[in-house]
Amino acid sequence: MGHLALYRTWRPQRFDEVVGQEQTVQALKNSVRMNQTSHAYLFAGPRGTGKTSLAKILARAVNCERPEDGEPCNQCQTCQDILSGNFMDVIEIDAASNRGIDEIRDLREQVKILPAQGRKKVYIIDEVHMLTTEAFNALLKTLEEPPENVLFILATTEVQKIPATILSRCQKYRFLRLSPEQIVQRLQEVASSEGITAAPEALELLARRANGGMRDALGMLDQMISYRGKNLSREDVMQGLGMVDDTLLADIFQAVQLNHPAEIIENLAQAFIHGLDARQIAREGAWYLRDVLMFQILGERAEFQRMSESGLPRVKEQAENLDRESILRALQKMMELSEQLRFGEDPRFLLEMTFLGLIDLFQGRELMVEEQPEPRANEKQRKRAVSEPAPKDAAKPQTKPATEAPEENAFWQQVLAGVKAEKITTHAMLAEGNFIGIHGDVAYISYRKGYRFHKEKMEEKENRLLVQEVMRKISGKEIQLEFILQDDPKYNDLLVKKAIEVFGENKVKVLD
Ligand SMILES: Nc1ncnc2c1ncn2[C@@H]1O[C@H](COP(=O)(O)OP(=O)(O)OP(=O)(O)O)[C@@H](O)[C@H]1O
Ligand SMILES: [Mg+2]
Ligand SMILES: [Zn+2]
Repeated sequence: MGHLALYRTWRPQRFDEVVGQEQTVQALKNSVRMNQTSHAYLFAGPRGTGKTSLAKILARAVNCERPEDGEPCNQCQTCQDILSGNFMDVIEIDAASNRGIDEIRDLREQVKILPAQGRKKVYIIDEVHMLTTEAFNALLKTLEEPPENVLFILATTEVQKIPATILSRCQKYRFLRLSPEQIVQRLQEVASSEGITAAPEALELLARRANGGMRDALGMLDQMISYRGKNLSREDVMQGLGMVDDTLLADIFQAVQLNHPAEIIENLAQAFIHGLDARQIAREGAWYLRDVLMFQILGERAEFQRMSESGLPRVKEQAENLDRESILRALQKMMELSEQLRFGEDPRFLLEMTFLGLIDLFQGRELMVEEQPEPRANEKQRKRAVSEPAPKDAAKPQTKPATEAPEENAFWQQVLAGVKAEKITTHAMLAEGNFIGIHGDVAYISYRKGYRFHKEKMEEKENRLLVQEVMRKISGKEIQLEFILQDDPKYNDLLVKKAIEVFGENKVKVLD
């Protein structure tokens, strides 16, 4: 037996099975109960929110032989016939099809014929915005002089395309997007009845992705089951939908904020390993920033598109640390990136460069806020220079590395500023380094554990030459560069030796 799509099996059959749309449901049910239905209804709203479902319920409710409190019984012959599509007086017209146009043309004659089987002839006209002008005119004529036993239900996702003359003759109901909570609840119900076990977070992801549409949510659940079986974890859904983990984006944006280019590159590499493509990442990046922005504007009232419960603290933190303009500009960059990626040659490169470029953007604000040339406090803490003397009081935070001669420190700051003026990405990578000092005509710069990427980048000719040029301008001397990695034992010895050589044994203390 063929598999019947979940969204079909789970079409609500009674008013009280409809999720959400409370006001509409209540009003329709009351009008049936009090026998005061209108001649024409317009159901307008987003895809998959219950328009056609409610139209069919209403069609049965007005014809049911034994209605109960406004609900169709779904048992009597009439209900059964309508449900199986064998009832002559419930006519569904798809306005998007050619046949639909013909049917509308004949409408004026047809409506005059009394119901054959039931009490009311019900015309359900779906996608009514697709009608031609001619067909709208035919429909309008019918609506202007509606026969007694006819009920029209027009449904559309694009109410703005319906002529005002038609609108004014209908009782209008707006269908709303369903909330993620409403969708999760329904998915949970469907899952347990179908013998599916799904993690709440998995359903939450589906619900958010469905963007308020129940059909899409059920459709995706179906897809996930055929893809992963009847046991769904959050990871299954992430992979199934090709979604980027929100913590990944939180990590990347945090790295941008803290000016940690290596982490950006490493996280992106991880994403690629997991099979995500650049466009997905760019798109999810934009959604992530959107969530940050929403939190900044609305606080706890914000509805998040991408963030899961567990990721919320990250969003909040970033919302607090970034100004609105930076977020908006970053959002714009993400959208430009999406655009570029449609034609781009090297998506990964574009992605990396864009995220590295955001460092600059996020940093701009900080520069304006703190005008002192002092390196930022956290940067200082991170720089645990091997050349520092043993602090007298180890518990005391070291405010100034005493061995870095003041003029050397000033030199380094000038170099950093000079490089920054030339190329922000080079600066970002250089700034992660620790300036040990100059010995002879060689400047030694070390990198901490995990910063191999920076070191290797800096060793590339272009970056090396840029720094050398800046140093030459400042000092008037040709200075060579040596980059050292601290975590590599091979280099460690070398580093210590070099430091001792440069600064003298009593000044060198090896940390960690
Ligand atoms: N409010 C709802 N409550 C419960 N299920 C719903 C609801 N809305 C949609 N569904 C599910 O989605 C399926 C499609 O819904 P329906 O055909 O009523 O949507 P629609 O609003 O007419 O969409 P479209 O504009 O695309 O025609 C239903 O069979 C049902 O499984
Ligand atoms: Mg529909
Ligand atoms: Zn019935």
